[in-house]
Amino acid sequence: MKVTLSVIKADIGSIGGHLKPSSEVLQRVKDYISQNGKDLIFDFFVSFTGDDIAILFSHGQGVGSEKVHKLAWDAFVAGTEIAKKQGLYGAGQDLLKDAFSGNVRGMGPAVCEMEIEERPNEPFVFFAADKTDPGAYNLPLYLAFADPMYNSGLILSPNMAKGFKFTIMDVNYTEGDKVIELNAPEDLYDIAALLRDNERFVIESIHSRETGEVAACVSTTRLHNIAGKYTGKDDPVMLVRVQGPFPATGEVLAPFSIGHYVAGFMRGSHTGPLMPVKMNSSVSYFDGPPCVCAIGFCVHNGKLTEPADCFDHPYWDWVRNNVARKATEMRMQGFSGAAMLPYSELEYGGIVKKMEKLEPKFRIRR
Ligand code: F6R
Ligand code: MG
Ligand code: MG
Repeated sequence: MKVTLSVIKADIGSIGGHLKPSSEVLQRVKDYISQNGKDLIFDFFVSFTGDDIAILFSHGQGVGSEKVHKLAWDAFVAGTEIAKKQGLYGAGQDLLKDAFSGNVRGMGPAVCEMEIEERPNEPFVFFAADKTDPGAYNLPLYLAFADPMYNSGLILSPNMAKGFKFTIMDVNYTEGDKVIELNAPEDLYDIAALLRDNERFVIESIHSRETGEVAACVSTTRLHNIAGKYTGKDDPVMLVRVQGPFPATGEVLAPFSIGHYVAGFMRGSHTGPLMPVKMNSSVSYFDGPPCVCAIGFCVHNGKLTEPADCFDHPYWDWVRNNVARKATEMRMQGFSGAAMLPYSELEYGGIVKKMEKLEPKFRIRR
């Protein structure tokens, strides 16, 4: 049976600054989908990560379905009405257009989708990150799909012997989708050369070279490329199929123990370590740290099982402590050097104005 998994997520307002959505807003989004999605979708699951609400749909409408995208958009519009009534901060902030036009791509919300031939058992993991951007998944995906130091299945399992195909997007190009396909393991150095630049080159999808099937997909939206200015970091979502011809769940999760430094954090303008958090966690310290949750499911005949909260385990408490220390270490140097992002990535234009004012005050001494 063919099933499409779609994740559509948006920040439509939050409590106490950019911390978390209210339970009323979440409930409204859920109710809207229950009431209006009955004949359209097989199943859905709503969760939040920091200030973002993500809707996971299972349906039979294929990738880019106007009906499914409209359902998500309308659910976010309905949630925004509550957010406005409650006076939530940034109500409706990711709904950048006034009216829905065919597809939520380019309208603010982040999307990742895959159409699959459902296996007799179809486990997958849904990831959602806040206070960071899509390049945050580059390193964990590289390690999980191409590095036997993290994925022992690349050595042990005959199902992955041929490796994986990486589709990588140059997100700076805005005239269309500029993508390149590279194969692991032959092209490893080329893949690494691109993926080191998280702000420009982003993994869009990964396919098994054994079966040709899609293994992973990531939302590649860069909001500042849509709005022409920063309206927030992009807070990416991702779907990864696991087991069989794909990495084991634990191999996909393992690289998140690094807490690697990513772009985002306070005002989308800093560098901070990516903290693996439990489902429905808010953010806190310095509007962060950048965080990611991972929720495991099986889908069967289109129906989703209950969620398994992958980072809700004592092991990850130890990781969180280490990542908190890494965050504090970086924050100790405040605005200096690596702690803040380069001009092109700053979420706020204020510093550019400041530089313009200072420029005429410089004197050239010969
Ligand atoms: C970044 C974020 C926060 C805000 C910060 C200032 O995505 O959500 O770090 O940038 O709280 O918020 P504003 O400018 O909305 O007052
Ligand atoms: Mg936000
Ligand atoms: Mg957010």
